[in-house]
Amino acid sequence: MRTFKKFQVAKEPDFQLKIVQQEFSELADNEVLVKVAYSDVNYKDALASTESGNVIRNYPMTPGIDLSGTVVKSRDPRFKSGDLVLVTGYGLGVTHPGGYSEYQIVPSDWLILLPENLSTRQAMILGTAGFTAALAVNALLKQGMSTDAHIVVTGASGGVGSTAIALLRKLGFTSITALSRKQEANDWLKQLGASKVLHPADFLPEKPKPLGKQQIDYIIDTVGGNQLSQLLPLLSYDGAGALCGNAGGIELHTTVLPFILRNVQLIGIDSVNVAHENRVTVWQQLADLAIADDLHVQEITLEQLPATIDQLLSGTHQGRTLVHVGGQE
Ligand SMILES: NC(=O)c1ccc[n+]([C@@H]2O[C@H](COP(=O)([O-])OP(=O)(O)OC[C@H]3O[C@@H](n4cnc5c(N)ncnc54)[C@H](OP(=O)(O)O)[C@@H]3O)[C@@H](O)[C@H]2O)c1
Repeated sequence: MRTFKKFQVAKEPDFQLKIVQQEFSELADNEVLVKVAYSDVNYKDALASTESGNVIRNYPMTPGIDLSGTVVKSRDPRFKSGDLVLVTGYGLGVTHPGGYSEYQIVPSDWLILLPENLSTRQAMILGTAGFTAALAVNALLKQGMSTDAHIVVTGASGGVGSTAIALLRKLGFTSITALSRKQEANDWLKQLGASKVLHPADFLPEKPKPLGKQQIDYIIDTVGGNQLSQLLPLLSYDGAGALCGNAGGIELHTTVLPFILRNVQLIGIDSVNVAHENRVTVWQQLADLAIADDLHVQEITLEQLPATIDQLLSGTHQGRTLVHVGGQE
């Protein structure tokens, strides 16, 4: 019987992360078998690989919320053997086995054909992080953000944060303040497009007030918690924040004042359940902007996942990590 390799999170007999061999199974209607070329590591993948992460419901499970690769077999006429595809979000790596596997069976509705100007490698350098950053930037553009605006990006050395900076820069924004707790990220964040890189403590007021000096036009926030609470009072009239993440906590303590006195908007961003049509548009936009090759990337194998997961959980990870699963398409 032919088998393939996959990374697995198991709970029995103890909680453990391991590489196991899996046999191929038959495809049901509307399923596609993909030979995975690349996956990546997002904060959610790191949480999924912990006992208390509250991401995975059924064990054992193969994490990996993103994958790119080549269609091997298809039970949906929209896809044929040899097509290059990507998947991000939906239930991948959460309720359905994910991208940390040499082969994966995926519901065909989740697949996107790769834009012609994007490789499987570039797609996973971006992954959910790039897709989310693009959704956040698009939401703020819709809100009226123009290239002379001052934008603050939090969790700047992370996947979503750093990709958002690269995207903004490519779109012509020149006043981008990156908030990062990592001094060592200073140089590469500036190369990516940040005009200033500051430690949050050097930017945020010592004694936050319900309304502070208006000094930010837009926020792309991946941290949530206290950092976002302290940023909202600094937004200028008509300003807006795109709220993508909670790396610093899920609570948000604020007052209504920025909203009712400064017309501030706080926009939620979800990348998991975006409509298919919108996904195709955003992936084409990411391919056309060609930012994947500008990003800060390290590349690992399935065997190296536990070390990278530890880095994400301890907040020491920088940029994007690409998981080279099986190929170079
Ligand atoms: N809404 C969605 O659909 C969606 C999609 C993707 C990601 N997310 C969320 O967005 C966040 C970022 O995801 P990611 O994949 O970019 O993660 P990541 O690569 O781990 O980046 C998170 C960054 O946040 C900062 N950070 C981490 N822990 C922190 C803490 N305790 N306090 C303050 N800052 C902290 C760090 O940046 P510095 O060291 O530079 O400060 C870190 O690099 C996560 O919460 C993730 O779940 C949401």
